Formats: sequence, C-alpha cells, structure tokens
Amino acid sequence: MPRIVVVGSINMDLVTLAPRFPGPGETVLGSRFFTTHGGKGANQAVAAARLGAEVSMVGALGRDAFGDQLHAGLAQEGVDLAHVARLDDVGSGSASITVAEGDNQIIVVPAANARVTPAQVEAAHPAIACADAVLVQLEIPLDAVEATLRLARRENVPVILNPAPAQKLPAEWLQLASLLTPNQHELATMLGDDANTDFRELMRRAPCPVVLTRGGEGAWYRDDAHPEPAHQPGFAVDVVDTTGAGDTFNGALAVFLHEGLPQAVRKASAAAALSVTKLGAQGGMPSAREVEALLAR
Ligand code: RIB
Repeated sequence: MPRIVVVGSINMDLVTLAPRFPGPGETVLGSRFFTTHGGKGANQAVAAARLGAEVSMVGALGRDAFGDQLHAGLAQEGVDLAHVARLDDVGSGSASITVAEGDNQIIVVPAANARVTPAQVEAAHPAIACADAVLVQLEIPLDAVEATLRLARRENVPVILNPAPAQKLPAEWLQLASLLTPNQHELATMLGDDANTDFRELMRRAPCPVVLTRGGEGAWYRDDAHPEPAHQPGFAVDVVDTTGAGDTFNGALAVFLHEGLPQAVRKASAAAALSVTKLGAQGGMPSAREVEALLAR
C-alpha cells in the first residue's frame, strides 16, 4: 500500500448548477445549490485514499462548522489528520463554484489555508521521510510549498508539484520538483512564458519531468525516458461535473508512480475520467477496482 503525504488546502465547496455562466453585472437563475467537500489538497488526499493508499495530510482548518464537517469527512476517508491544524481565530477555506456549459468557474477564499506554515511541514518530517510520494499544490502559502519541496528532496522522496492555481514560480523550485503536473495555462504562467506557445515546446522548456493535462483530450508526459512528449489519450465518458478531475488525476498519479510514468499516467487518466461522471469534486473519485474495470473495457 503506497504511503502518500499531501500538503495543501481544504475547502468547503459551495456549488451552484446553472444553464450558463453570468457575465459581469448579470444575474442568471441556477437550478441547484449544494455544499460539498473540496480543496485541491483534500481532494488529492481523498483520491489517493480511495485508490487504497495510506494518506497523511498537512493543512489547516478553522474551528467552525465547515471545519468540523471537513475534518470528519477526511477522517471518514481514512486520511490521517495529525498534521491538520485547527485554528481558533480564522474560518475554514471555501470555494464558490459555478458549474455550467460543461465547465466550472471557481473563486477560492483561502482563510485557514493561508496559515499553513513551513513549521507544520517540518513537523510532518517523519511522515514525509517514509512516504512513497508527496503531493503539493499552490492554494497554501508559497513558503510552505517551498519547505515541502526542499524536505522531500532532502529525504529523496518523489515530490509532485501541481502548480494550481497558476502562478509564476522561482526557476529553482521547478528543479526541486520530481514531477510537475500543470495544464497548458499553468505551465506557461509558471515558466513566465507565452500562453500561446505550443504546449509540447513548453514541456521541453520545463527543467524537470512534466505531465501536462488537457482535459478530455488526455495527458502528455515527458521525462528522461521520453524526451519527446508522449500522449495518453483521454477515456470517453459522460461528463457531469469536471470539478476535481485534475485533483483525482494527481492523487492517482502519486499512488501509481511506482509502476513507472506511462502506466501511472494511464491509470490517473482513467481515474480522472471516472471522477467527472458524478457531481462534486470528490463525488466521482473511484476505487482501484473501478479504475481497473475502465481500463479493461
Ligand atoms: O480543484 C478543484 C478544487 O479547487 C475545488 O474543490 C475547490 O475547493 C478549489 O480548491
């Protein structure tokens, strides 16, 4: 059973389904509203746990009603929460999500997530040192992201940097990551490059192995064994909600990384495809058996 550590955000997702996205100053009547558990870090942790990994999470929650619900939800998924801080003077993170036109728009209010510290990462040293892979994203302070990259590198543990939401990052950090998992926009932003540059060219410019996700089109990967970007086609499914598909992909990639990059990307693509067939970021995250069944189809 792979051991995975996720350093990242935990949010309550406030989801509205609508026939289309409103323009600035416009009101659109939606068809449904619900709250559900999310946050890129928590989503990746749950994706990995559902696939059978032993998962430990580093993050922060407020001591509010959302915090209680999110904490209980992660515990129920079997995620170890010893390194998730409960803070008295700040609320839990939230994300206002509109699902429309087969896509989504998200506004995140980080709240407690903005208080994840490098010291918390250091306190998780024993878990990180014996992990098979570490996952980190950009919804927490960048000093905590950097501490994660440096600690994992020091301990020789593969660390996957999912650079979402998009931000320009110091070039040195990109060399600390074992694997980058951006989409095209995120890769262009983090490299400080032109978003219109061909994505294969952007992949060649990255200073470490890259897996680039392209939604339903699938994923492309480049590493020392595949110096030219290789393609993993997407799996055809009925799309209900794409929220959390990238997180499912990342969680699965970490779990299957020990099987080699091509196989890990194949299984992560299958897991991500299954995740979009149900509502909510975590609603459609599959078990290992469901991934195998899709691959056998
Ligand atoms: O990647 C999807 C996630 O982004 C949502 O669950 C939301 O909380 C935001 O963090």
